[in-house]
Amino acid sequence: MTKKKNIIGICGSASPSSANLSILNWIANAEKANFNLELVEDLTQLPHFNTALTDENVPEQIVAFRAKIAHADGIIICTPEYIFSIPSGLKNMIEWCVSTTVFIDKPVGLITASASGLKGHAELKLIMETIQTKFIDQTTLLIQGVKGKVSKDGKIMDKQTEEELNLFIDAFEKWTQKLSFENRFKS
Ligand SMILES: Cc1cc2nc3c(=O)[nH]c(=O)nc-3n(C[C@H](O)[C@H](O)[C@H](O)COP(=O)(O)O)c2cc1C
Repeated sequence: MTKKKNIIGICGSASPSSANLSILNWIANAEKANFNLELVEDLTQLPHFNTALTDENVPEQIVAFRAKIAHADGIIICTPEYIFSIPSGLKNMIEWCVSTTVFIDKPVGLITASASGLKGHAELKLIMETIQTKFIDQTTLLIQGVKGKVSKDGKIMDKQTEEELNLFIDAFEKWTQKLSFENRFKS
């Protein structure tokens, strides 16, 4: 039997009652999801990026976070749009990793769940492409009007969104498997 993939789910929201966190929890518990999803729920706890701390004196928390990413088989980011962009906590996390190789060739799933989210989603894709993660259209998803589609207790209330999430899970799993197979022959 093949071992379940170890996936890190990163929530971009700075809100404790986050719809994006609910979506990540829904994915983690979805029957379809044949992978382990470990959640990073609160990026606000990471220190602020500072180039003076990028060499020998990187904070312990960041060293541990980078190692988590490096060892993961894949990453799912689920985030709202804040002021037509990605939230600062998410950007901060990426800034801490940009001088490393932890994201390079990593299979990623990118979900933007927001009121609108159009610009934030485009930016997220641009940033993740820039840091050389690997994604395809099927492993990205924009959920607009999220507050009307996810209930406060974490249920997906909209049939189409549920279908799109199931397709996303399927595509992400296949994509992760494909890249892990290909990477085996690279090293
Ligand atoms: C600081 C802030 C800025 C926001 N800016 C945007 C925006 O530019 N576009 C948008 O679609 N929604 C924006 N929103 C609304 C969020 O999309 C909405 O609150 C969403 O549900 C947040 O996701 P969450 O429940 O996972 O925190 C903003 C919310 C906050 C708190």
